[in-house]
Amino acid sequence: MSTTSYIETNRERFLSELFDLLRIPSISADSAYAGDVRKCAETVANFLTKAGADNVVLEETAGYPIVYGEKIIDANLPTVLVYGHYDVQPSVPNEFWNTPPFEPTIINDKIYARGACDDKGQMFMHVKAFETMMQTNQLACNIKFMIEGEEEVGSNNLGTYCKNNKEKLKADVILISDTSMIANDIPSIDVGLRGLSYVEVEVTGPNIDLHSGVYGGAVSNPVNALCQMIAKMHDDNRHITIPGFYDDVLEVSVEDREAMAKIPFSLDEYKKHLNINDVLGESGFSTIERTGIRPTLDVNGIWGGYIGEGAKTVLPSKAYAKISMRLVPNQSSEKITELFSNYFKQIAPAGVTVKVTPHHGGEPVVTPTTSIAYKAASNAMIDTFGKEPIPTRGGGSIPIVALFEKELQTKTVLMGFGLDSDAIHSPNEHYGVFNFFKGIETIPRFFHHFSELSK
Ligand code: BES
Ligand code: MN
Ligand code: MN
Repeated sequence: MSTTSYIETNRERFLSELFDLLRIPSISADSAYAGDVRKCAETVANFLTKAGADNVVLEETAGYPIVYGEKIIDANLPTVLVYGHYDVQPSVPNEFWNTPPFEPTIINDKIYARGACDDKGQMFMHVKAFETMMQTNQLACNIKFMIEGEEEVGSNNLGTYCKNNKEKLKADVILISDTSMIANDIPSIDVGLRGLSYVEVEVTGPNIDLHSGVYGGAVSNPVNALCQMIAKMHDDNRHITIPGFYDDVLEVSVEDREAMAKIPFSLDEYKKHLNINDVLGESGFSTIERTGIRPTLDVNGIWGGYIGEGAKTVLPSKAYAKISMRLVPNQSSEKITELFSNYFKQIAPAGVTVKVTPHHGGEPVVTPTTSIAYKAASNAMIDTFGKEPIPTRGGGSIPIVALFEKELQTKTVLMGFGLDSDAIHSPNEHYGVFNFFKGIETIPRFFHHFSELSK
């Protein structure tokens, strides 16, 4: 039987199995869901075993387990290590969901659920593609699966696991579907991801909340101070003002920028989709460049003072913010966190003290377009989309990609099938049924080409 007819025959079951995964609220950030995260790991392990994997185990870590499984068919064939994650982002704010986040629902050929695209839907394509290759006798490479449960909280235990299991994880390439493509009729492959530096700041003024009339005007207000400090972090050209912030930024060549300018992109559609009247970013760069090759600084959350009903006159004692900086080659997340920290303390106005707490970070990466593995992914997409995929730079971060290079000396191919409009991390996250099956169809073609090109 051909892979396409096997997929066609099993279409409904593939979807209903994905739904089983999507029903499990495996939110790694919230300890209230610890049992569900673990249950999700077990469910993934069961699916891998049923698909035909050997030696399936839950590898225990200091956090959530890593699901490992493999099928080694011939030591002379190349080995593909598939990475994905079974944990998801919190679903809040729940009131903005049109359907419950953990009750997957298909509307207009899109699967709505938290994790539908990021990354259960995309990760599960690999499990079903593997089953398909097994059942049709077309597995052309050895395969190893490493599916983790802490990607959305910084993959803190994956580095140690990789360091301690170098032999077990040995592979010729790492294949990941956890990114997006330009459009369903414009395939693309991410060849870069941004790094991340993430900090939480606490600004303290007086030792207790004060009456804003009795003390207001005479005592430094930490919320005012925080806003002023944050505003100072960009200049009028939207450059980040932290001294040394751009020192290590690799300028992208004129040729590469010209190639980026040719990527199909409609600013009007972009604005319309987000319902914004204009875009805003670093001057001198296009929207695609701003998200692909330039670093950023954004407030992710800010709070302090009175936010209850009505008006309470108060001069707050404390103000807080969570701030992320997306990084590009060759910035280092540790160095940027330190530069931020120093600058943030330096610009604090009189009367407040400042505390900066770093959260998880990650390094940026660029993946090669000249490798056999990239060529195999490109050929696979040509087979199923009828078009050569365009290499693009993803704005998000998958910190373990840089880590895999460091710990395992193995390069990655980011063959993602999502769309930027899939609302990952947002309410109403969804994944196209088309994309799910396109992935299942394309992955076996990757294995075929990778094996052929490795000969
Ligand atoms: N799958 C995303 C990353 C992604 C999405 C890359 C779309 C490119 C295009 C991943 O699950 C993710 O959300 N990563 C986090 C980083 C992590 C350290 C929390 C991110 O980018 O915010
Ligand atoms: Mn992801
Ligand atoms: Mn994510």
